[in-house]
Amino acid sequence: MIIPAKSSGNALSRTCPAIAIHQVSHFFGSNPVLNHVNLTVPKGTILALLGPSGCGKSTLLKMLAGLLNPASGEIRFDGEIVASGSFSLPPEKRNLGMAFQDYALWPHMSVRQNVAFPLQMRGIKGQAQAEKVMAALERVGLADFVSRRPSELSGGQQQRVALARAIVAEPRILLFDEPLSNLDRDLRESLCEEMAVLLRQLGTTAVYVTHDQHEARALAHRIARMDKGAIARIDTIDPSAVSPFVA
Ligand SMILES: Nc1ncnc2c1ncn2[C@@H]1O[C@H](COP(=O)(O)OP(=O)(O)OP(=O)(O)O)[C@@H](O)[C@H]1O
Ligand SMILES: [Mg+2]
Repeated sequence: MIIPAKSSGNALSRTCPAIAIHQVSHFFGSNPVLNHVNLTVPKGTILALLGPSGCGKSTLLKMLAGLLNPASGEIRFDGEIVASGSFSLPPEKRNLGMAFQDYALWPHMSVRQNVAFPLQMRGIKGQAQAEKVMAALERVGLADFVSRRPSELSGGQQQRVALARAIVAEPRILLFDEPLSNLDRDLRESLCEEMAVLLRQLGTTAVYVTHDQHEARALAHRIARMDKGAIARIDTIDPSAVSPFVA
């Protein structure tokens, strides 16, 4: 579903998908990496991007994050263009939360400071900041670890901190790139279940990149299968979550 470029405002956000990717293509040098990708994510739903290594999952996610601009095509959030061949809204203006495979925590900062960072960037300070940080850490079961440094945490705990940091500012979209793939199998399964519950409770629109079929099925409302830079098919896991207005 594509909305005319000049439309904007609240009326749009009521009827538009949270994310609309339209004819997005990209090349690295002369290698085509994304080939006319079309994809929509209805508001409040979780889409898993599943596919073999090198098929373009992370490249597409980076475009949603604003870390890479598509060569052609466009991306809209709530009907507003955030990226096209000639324009890219900077990541900090997209109101996103992100968590990646390598946690990307700042080693010199405590758990509290790491989680507070997105709030700091948005000018949320003092008591309001402290309350939001504690609420996010409670959600991921780490309220007792606020003063630790990342090096004093296990891998699973570090990923929980990254998750708390992703959700703390209540972003409009959450982006995940294989956040559990560095963990051992048991931990991956239990954290995956916890994340599924947490994401359902939050109701935030999310895109979750993985090449693990079980993870995708456990977490997502819909699964988009990518192959060689294109969407090969889309499976609906939870039909109740998919709005009728989205193809
Ligand atoms: N900065 C870059 N420069 C050149 N080629 C790149 C760059 N980043 C990615 N590629 C290539 O683009 C293709 C898609 O990469 P991408 O990282 O999106 O794959 P992926 O689906 O996330 O794979 P994986 O599951 O292994 O993480 C790959 O062939 C990769 O080698
Ligand atoms: Mg990747």
